[in-house]
Amino acid sequence: MKYIDENSITTAVLQRLESCKNPRLKEILGTLVIHLHDFAREVKLTESEWMAGIEFLTATGQMCDDKRQEFILLSDTLGLSMLTVAMNNAKPEGVTESTVFGPFHVAGAPHVALGADISAGAAGEPLFVTAKVLTPDGKPVAGADVDVWQADEEGLYDVQRPDLAHHQARAVLRTDAQGNLNFKTVLPVAYPVPTDGPVGKMLVATGRHPWRPAHIHFMVVAPGFERLITHVFRDGDPYMDSDVVFGVRSSLIRQFEQHAPGLAPDGSQQSVPFHTLNFDFVLQPV
Ligand SMILES: [Fe+2]
Repeated sequence: MKYIDENSITTAVLQRLESCKNPRLKEILGTLVIHLHDFAREVKLTESEWMAGIEFLTATGQMCDDKRQEFILLSDTLGLSMLTVAMNNAKPEGVTESTVFGPFHVAGAPHVALGADISAGAAGEPLFVTAKVLTPDGKPVAGADVDVWQADEEGLYDVQRPDLAHHQARAVLRTDAQGNLNFKTVLPVAYPVPTDGPVGKMLVATGRHPWRPAHIHFMVVAPGFERLITHVFRDGDPYMDSDVVFGVRSSLIRQFEQHAPGLAPDGSQQSVPFHTLNFDFVLQPV
């Protein structure tokens, strides 16, 4: 093929991939080339727009380090993360749905006893959480490890506070023989994703807000069941219908009940208003 034009170039690139030994790589790269070329033809991409795209992706990479993952943020805000989660985690009716993992999980969070205060000094209104981990037919899952992480009342995760030397508002708890789980924490609030990088510029340029509705992250691991990565969202949040990363699923929204000062579920007397949340996790057997 000596004469390459704007249409024949797609076939020419696909022919170069013919000798690829890995069939899945050949499929992914070949289909990417087809869509990438169709995209450029459809929008009639100019050379300066192509360069702007190169500079944007370069800046996205340069923003990444061991604590900051701007490419995941880009994937999240373009809906690719949630699309991948939804495609790969279709659950039968009644099984708890998955949502995005997000960038703030920390491996090796402290294991704490049931009933513990996991806030560890994080600021916020008190929240008492009770939950059960269940099989699809309602039997308790004993010994499930439940990893919990969330933002404080300023909308920050502990890892976003460089001066903080210990974990806050994150822990791992293990369900008892009845599949029960309970802990004390702080009320999660809505928070903006980091906007000081190229993804933030993209949000501004496209007239989008950076906010996620208030939620608590959970990862539930139990032998014999699929790992569940999900959130519980706080009903009534103004950003519920416009989550910047498209992570909301209606089955994951719950009332966080508000209570006047008084007797809390753990038997303590609260001098300030407090909240309670109850949620049952239903795991899919492997
Ligand atoms: Fe989050």
